[in-house]
Amino acid sequence: MTKSLEQIYNKFAETYDKNRSLFDMTEIFDSFYGTLNHKNGSLLDLGCGAGESFSKLFVDKRWSVTGVDFSEKMVELATKYVPEMTTIHADMRKLVFEPRSFDAISAIYSLFHLPTSDHFALFEHFYRWLTPGGMVLFTYATKEYTGSERFDGEKEFMGQNLYYGHKKPDELYLDLESIGFMVEAADYRTIGGETFLWIICKKH
Ligand SMILES: C[S@@+](CC[C@H](N)C(=O)[O-])C[C@H]1O[C@@H](n2cnc3c(N)ncnc32)[C@H](O)[C@@H]1O
Repeated sequence: MTKSLEQIYNKFAETYDKNRSLFDMTEIFDSFYGTLNHKNGSLLDLGCGAGESFSKLFVDKRWSVTGVDFSEKMVELATKYVPEMTTIHADMRKLVFEPRSFDAISAIYSLFHLPTSDHFALFEHFYRWLTPGGMVLFTYATKEYTGSERFDGEKEFMGQNLYYGHKKPDELYLDLESIGFMVEAADYRTIGGETFLWIICKKH
């Protein structure tokens, strides 16, 4: 039987617990944190996993952090490792928040698991949920990772087939700009042998 992404991440949670803090995200965190106007605002971390490292780094800066993940095992780990954060067990596409609820939104290695047909509506939600001048950081899948300019399909990762979706970078930027975001940074970074685009954008 094919496993759902939630089931796969529930399973990964056990492995994760044994191999914590494999990658140092400090440089990426610093480059994002440096763009923020609010020095102790509110962060929404989508696909927060075990809360490490982004949620934790923001909590350490005294931000109020809400982490969302649809894997209940990941949410359990986040509650254990970052008890200060608020956790929500949900699919990031089904969230409801008041407009202007957050000063920043992150989606680290998570949004790229959604089909591209879901991206635009989610970016519109980001825009609505952010305060004016609010910032977003997310990891976007690339041709270097999937082998295609545009991709919607499964790719093997740690022995499991995981779904990934991405458009061409220029198409992504047009989507973001048509919603009202300014793309402030788009950096290709290779971490652990995997090349992704790291996007920082700002609400006008
Ligand atoms: C590769 S992990 C990254 C976790 C964390 N952001 C980090 O950097 O360590 C991807 C996470 O996104 C979550 N995820 C994937 N799709 C999701 C969705 N549609 N809604 C909520 N969480 C999702 C998975 O359960 C998993 O915990």
